[in-house]
Amino acid sequence: MLKRDEMLSHLKARRPVAAPSMLKCDFGNLHREIELLDSAEASLLHWDVMDGHFVPNLSYGAMVIERARSLTKTPFEAHLMISDPTKYLDEYIKAGCEAITFHLEAVPQPVSLLREIRSKGVVAGLAINPGTSFSAAAPFLKECDLFLVMSVHPGFGGQKFIPDVVSKISDARALAGDDLIISVDGGIGRSTIAQCAQAGCDVFVAGSSVFDESCYTTAIAELQRTARGT
Ligand code: DX5
Ligand code: ZN
Repeated sequence: MLKRDEMLSHLKARRPVAAPSMLKCDFGNLHREIELLDSAEASLLHWDVMDGHFVPNLSYGAMVIERARSLTKTPFEAHLMISDPTKYLDEYIKAGCEAITFHLEAVPQPVSLLREIRSKGVVAGLAINPGTSFSAAAPFLKECDLFLVMSVHPGFGGQKFIPDVVSKISDARALAGDDLIISVDGGIGRSTIAQCAQAGCDVFVAGSSVFDESCYTTAIAELQRTARGT
């Protein structure tokens, strides 16, 4: 498992990164899905945790992630769409997540939780919903390693990309400089990834545009190639 500094170097060295959203994987074949993502050389697996309260859907929790941890060395990000991330933080660290991202809407005063995540050797991520302005998050970016811009309303995969959020990516890049890892999540595919890349995004969470494809290797490579503009 990578320590925070190693994880940051790992992500920065590989950007642009297309990170498969495991919400869309075939849970009946989780082991096989992870093998396929490893052979596709995915740089990050994005685990969407939903509590049926912060979002109107329930997914999986630390127990499932911990079991998956034993199947691969690929780094994990937990995207916590839950109302009380502070309460459950240690479970996701123990499960082996190298990055933990929680929502500003769930924790309006996020500084102490961001510091706690960093102090435990884990990459600290802050996410904002489409309805939350960039200015609400701006004061906290210096406490973040990763800033996740939601480009759909969280809760479900397969939704349509909301283009209005792209300016939040460029605003974050302008304010925070090159060190901050900026991620976008929701509706990312070949037709939407380029505009996010041009705005300065590094990590592109992709559910449908990976798992609905027959070859994950081609899907991930194509997304990353499109983000690079090559
Ligand atoms: C939505 C999740 C996303 C989602 C992405 O709440 O945070 O990670 O699974 O799926 P697609 O790429 O299909 O929009
Ligand atoms: Zn997500």
